Amino acid sequence: MMPVRRDVHPHLPPERISDWHERGNHITHFINALSIFFPAGERFFMDSVRNYRDQVTDPELSRAIAGFIGQEAMHTREHILYNRLMEDAGLPAAPMDRTVWKLLDLLRKILPKSWQLAHTIALEHYTAMLADGLLRDGSHMGTRSETGYAQVWTWHALEETEHKAVAYDVWNTVMKPGLYRYLLRTFTMLTTTVTFWAMVFVFHIRLVMADKTCRNKLLGFGGVIKFLWGSPGVLRKMIPEWFAYFRPGFHPWDADNRAQLARIEPLIAEIEATAIRAGASTRAPSLRGAA
Ligand SMILES: [Fe+2]
Ligand SMILES: [Fe+2]
Repeated sequence: MMPVRRDVHPHLPPERISDWHERGNHITHFINALSIFFPAGERFFMDSVRNYRDQVTDPELSRAIAGFIGQEAMHTREHILYNRLMEDAGLPAAPMDRTVWKLLDLLRKILPKSWQLAHTIALEHYTAMLADGLLRDGSHMGTRSETGYAQVWTWHALEETEHKAVAYDVWNTVMKPGLYRYLLRTFTMLTTTVTFWAMVFVFHIRLVMADKTCRNKLLGFGGVIKFLWGSPGVLRKMIPEWFAYFRPGFHPWDADNRAQLARIEPLIAEIEATAIRAGASTRAPSLRGAA
């Protein structure tokens, strides 16, 4: 599986940033909260793989690393724009983004490089699990959601699937096999699970509370619990794959969902068609500058 960098510009109508999902503001903000992690998070992933690039001698894996970095860079660029739409709508995306940067800068300073890579493979497993759910079940994004937002997440999910094993293959290449490698990998999954979801929870609440257009602020969280744990059960359905990570011989491609990747090229054509229909002027010049 060879990841390819694709220069994609999904069109995100700014006026829909708070309610682009068909299930309304609360689900929209749950998914928006995930977007806040990407600029700092994906930089961290790229850096922790770059730290070991020189130790990789297999030319295939070296090429995959280049594709992985290229894809994450494109995701970062589009999520910076996405997050700026939240900020422009009066939502506190910038301070939360700074919190993620501070935390990950701290990890960069205090953790050995191997621990940083362990965090990356744990979080890449999370993105792969979320991506797989989204690609398998159309109700995660919804059929009546605003097209551009559904497209940016579907594109991201497809590329996360395409490169899901790259950081893991680097890990297996540079870390000596044995008990220490297994314990570091699995222990990090446990700590990452607690901290990541605690932060998502707090960010989600802050977005909902700051959204003046959102009615029934407290009641709406019932819909989020149903979305995550009932139907469609975004988190509930991830549980088997979360446990799979603890198998000693785990590999991301044990869950073979490569058939989904046939959707990439048609999706990119749709993204371009959507952007053309919306008109080039819809992307504000200030936002272009950020790219
Ligand atoms: Fe990504
Ligand atoms: Fe990724």
